[in-house]
Amino acid sequence: MSMDSQPSPISSQLAPDHITRAQSDLLRWYAAEQRDLPWRRTSDPYAILVSEIMLQQTQVDRVLPKYQQFLSAFPTLADLAVAPTADVINVWVPLGYNMRAVRLQAIAQQVMAQYDGRIPDTIEGLLSLKGIGRYTAGAIACFAYHKQVATVDTNIRRVLHRIFIGVEQPETALNDAAMLALAEQVLPPGEAYNWNQALMDMGATICTSNNPRCMACPLQEPCKAYQEMSQHSLFPSGVVLRQMRKVAEKKTSYQSQPFTSTNRYFRGRIVDLLRSLPAGECITLTLLGPKIKPEYSDADQPWLQRLVSGLAKDGLVDYTEDRVRLP
Ligand code: ADE
Ligand code: SF4
Repeated sequence: MSMDSQPSPISSQLAPDHITRAQSDLLRWYAAEQRDLPWRRTSDPYAILVSEIMLQQTQVDRVLPKYQQFLSAFPTLADLAVAPTADVINVWVPLGYNMRAVRLQAIAQQVMAQYDGRIPDTIEGLLSLKGIGRYTAGAIACFAYHKQVATVDTNIRRVLHRIFIGVEQPETALNDAAMLALAEQVLPPGEAYNWNQALMDMGATICTSNNPRCMACPLQEPCKAYQEMSQHSLFPSGVVLRQMRKVAEKKTSYQSQPFTSTNRYFRGRIVDLLRSLPAGECITLTLLGPKIKPEYSDADQPWLQRLVSGLAKDGLVDYTEDRVRLP
């Protein structure tokens, strides 16, 4: 999508004193209230890469124990690159989305092969790694190499939108390029590390998607969304907050499908089952089907084939001649 499709340039709407006020309020709050997270005490790019991949789809409190465990099992990028993939998946499994483990190992291998084992320190270099997108590239450049770069994930997007634009409405949604431009525009000089981490803490603890705690928020005064809500005297439980929730719910409505009926659930079941087999042992699809789905019938065979082929394509299983096993 091109920038032209935005209704109006955001920069013209942002007053410099609004930006500096928000910057100093948030940085002051973060200095006092920041969460003590292990990946904030290291600048080892490998450890930060591991944390960022884990945090992509998993909440902080579930990542914490796994992060330490993973780094104990694979202390360096070189260790991870040469480890058997099955071992990597095994350490990863309770986190879910096992593809991320395979992708992470592939990144380690690519860094060994192309960058002599050193994780790149520029956005462009990081983006050359397969499976690293702009968010993760920005996070590593900033958190490991202290580069003054902006980075936007779902939480940061929401918080920035509320502070600088207002309550999220479908018609105020920014495309990725415009949101990144906004994030760059409001980045406080020399403070990118604290600013980006602070936005994450805000998104996780105060300015949450469904239930922002504006009354406890350090940015109440400069926040555009808060101003909108108080102007309409619709705060705290009025129409605007409900509108916020509706927008949030719409965004996640695909998640309302019962979890156990999704293919992701069955992908997880297959990997769990293969892990329970003696090392190196394989199983045929015909035997596998009823083990992962009690009501399995012959009609499910094409579905199972597609699931297993998908897992094989993602490097999570080996699939040859109707037999499946861990790689
Ligand atoms: N989510 C993604 N990166 C994070 C970080 N560095 N701290 C907390 N939550 C995060
Ligand atoms: Fe979010 Fe409310 Fe704080 Fe604005 S005042 S940043 S909406 S928690």
